[in-house]
Amino acid sequence: MTDTSILKNLKILPMTFDDLEDVLKIEKLSFPSPWPKSQFVREIGNPFSNKFTAKIVQDGKEVVAAYIIFWVLADEAHILNIATHPEFRWRGIAKNLLVFTLNYLGEVRAREVFLEVRKSNTPAQRLYKDLGFKEIGVRKGYYGNNKEDAIVMALTLADVSLIDFEEEG
Ligand SMILES: CC(C)(COP(=O)(O)OP(=O)(O)OC[C@H]1O[C@@H](n2cnc3c(N)ncnc32)[C@H](O)[C@@H]1OP(=O)(O)O)[C@@H](O)C(=O)NCCC(=O)NCCS
Repeated sequence: MTDTSILKNLKILPMTFDDLEDVLKIEKLSFPSPWPKSQFVREIGNPFSNKFTAKIVQDGKEVVAAYIIFWVLADEAHILNIATHPEFRWRGIAKNLLVFTLNYLGEVRAREVFLEVRKSNTPAQRLYKDLGFKEIGVRKGYYGNNKEDAIVMALTLADVSLIDFEEEG
C-alpha cells in the first residue's frame, strides 16, 4: 500500500531562490528536456507567474519534494510545470499541490485552467483526470526533443465543487 503519512508534514510555500538547487535536481530527474536554471530564475521574477514548493521534513531537515509553476492571465490559468522528486512519488504530493493550486485559482477568480502533457505520460494524465481535467485537443509534435504530441487538458473551475486536502496515512 502507498505510504501517504508523508502528507501530514507537507508544507506548501512560495518558491524562492533558496529552493532552486533542490528544484533543479528534481527537474533533471523528471524530464527528458529539463528547464535550465535561467528559466526558473525568469519565472521567479515574472509577476504573472506563481510558483510553489511542497516541502517535507527528511532526517530533521526541510527538503523540497515537489513544485508547481502556473501563470494567471486575466481569468485563465496555465500550468507550466509540476514535478515530484522520484523518491517521494505515489504518496499524493502532486495531488495536494494541484488541489492547493485549484483552490488558489478559485480565490483569484480564474475560470479555466489549461495544461499540456506528453501523450506517453499516463501517470500525469491520470492525476489530472482524477482532479477533473478533460482532454480538449492535441498539439502535434509539440515537444522538441522527440516531436511527441501534447494532449491539451482543461478544467473549468466553476465545475469544481469543494476540494479538500487529502490527509490519509
Ligand atoms: C506526474 C507526477 C507529478 C505525479 O506526482 P506524484 O506526487 O507521484 O503524484 P500523486 O502521488 O499525487 O498521485 C496522484 C495520482 O496520479 C496518478 N499517478 C501518479 N503516479 C502514477 C503512476 N506512476 N502511474 C499511474 N498513475 C499515477 C494516480 O492517479 C494518482 O492517484 P492515486 O494514487 O489515487 O491512484 C510525477 O510522476 C512526476 O514528477 N513525473 C515527472 C514529471 C511530470 O511528468 N510532470 C507532469 C508534466 S505534464
